[in-house]
Amino acid sequence: MLKNFWYAVEFSHAVQRQPRKITCLGQDFVVWRRRNGEVAVLSDLCVHRGGALSMGKLVGDDRIACPYHGWEYEPDGTCVKIPANPVDRGIPKKARVDAYPVIERYGMVWAFLGDLPEEQRPPIPHIPEHDDPSYRAVYFETTIEANYERTMENVVDAAHAPFVHGTAFGNPDKPQIPDFELSQDEWRCEADILMSPPPAKGRWKRLYKDKPEQVVVTNGWYLPNVVKLHVRLPFGDMLLYDFNIPLTQDRTLIKIIGYRNFLTSKWADKNAVQRISKILEQDRVVVEAQRPELLPFDLSAELHIRSDALQVAYRRRRRELIERGWWVGDDDVVTGDVPRRRATVIPSPARRDNPELARAWVHKTRGGGDEPAGDTE
Ligand code: FES
Ligand code: FE
Repeated sequence: MLKNFWYAVEFSHAVQRQPRKITCLGQDFVVWRRRNGEVAVLSDLCVHRGGALSMGKLVGDDRIACPYHGWEYEPDGTCVKIPANPVDRGIPKKARVDAYPVIERYGMVWAFLGDLPEEQRPPIPHIPEHDDPSYRAVYFETTIEANYERTMENVVDAAHAPFVHGTAFGNPDKPQIPDFELSQDEWRCEADILMSPPPAKGRWKRLYKDKPEQVVVTNGWYLPNVVKLHVRLPFGDMLLYDFNIPLTQDRTLIKIIGYRNFLTSKWADKNAVQRISKILEQDRVVVEAQRPELLPFDLSAELHIRSDALQVAYRRRRRELIERGWWVGDDDVVTGDVPRRRATVIPSPARRDNPELARAWVHKTRGGGDEPAGDTE
């Protein structure tokens, strides 16, 4: 799993005043909508005794109070009240948790999970359809018991469509994938791929006049975990943006926004969601059975052919970022038969921004080579 990226962690509409727990990179966060409408994302780990802040409540103007002993934290992570202390006793400098930069864009809450300063942060993927009034969006989510890189690669893999999706999204009589060009930069890779469309059926049947021999499908990945599928049908465009949120290394929360510029009335939403759900369920079966569960680090561990070019590009780029120290593993370790979770966090930008606070952090960080963490100093 990669740190130092903007992660789309939740649909905007799902974040309200009530604090909630969200999970990403094997790490829990508390998220809530502040009085001013902005969203706060903090590590869900109270520095006192590891209470889950997400079980606490909002107090004062905009603070979250830990459910265990009531320590109160501001949205920037500083603790401003320790109820058990006499009123004239100061708050220790170390009484702070990591707070993460947040941007709301394209109907998603994006949290920057890493400690890079603003100018060095990789970009948020561009989703032009979101603000285009000719498109209508539907929202979908499900959890898959598989690694997020396996689920990501599945979406950019055009060759699986006729086998896994049959006529739902592919043409089993024409499985060939013509060679395609990659269009790539540091953070994204896309390709226009010619595919044979499935036989017309269901609601779409009436929309087809002359069924084309081939349609252009744009497949692409955007680091760290977004994949796009853009199908140009003769009667309009359908796009799926698929956010593969690593709950842990082997469990993925998939959130999808599906856009279409045909049948844009509300009554067609249900059908659009059903199509997404059907395709996801077909993928689930194969992806949950893949071995090894985690995407291999070694390129030669699996055999690639020309039509796998998008996945190979991803694996190459990921290797560069691992060498840069951006990889974080899973912190769940098993001792005897009792699973134990370490109390570590993804470092937030405040750790670099305030060198004078270098020692003012209770929890050790994950990634960047300072693991194993969670042990005593
Ligand atoms: Fe949070 Fe004690 S554990 S206040
Ligand atoms: Fe699929």
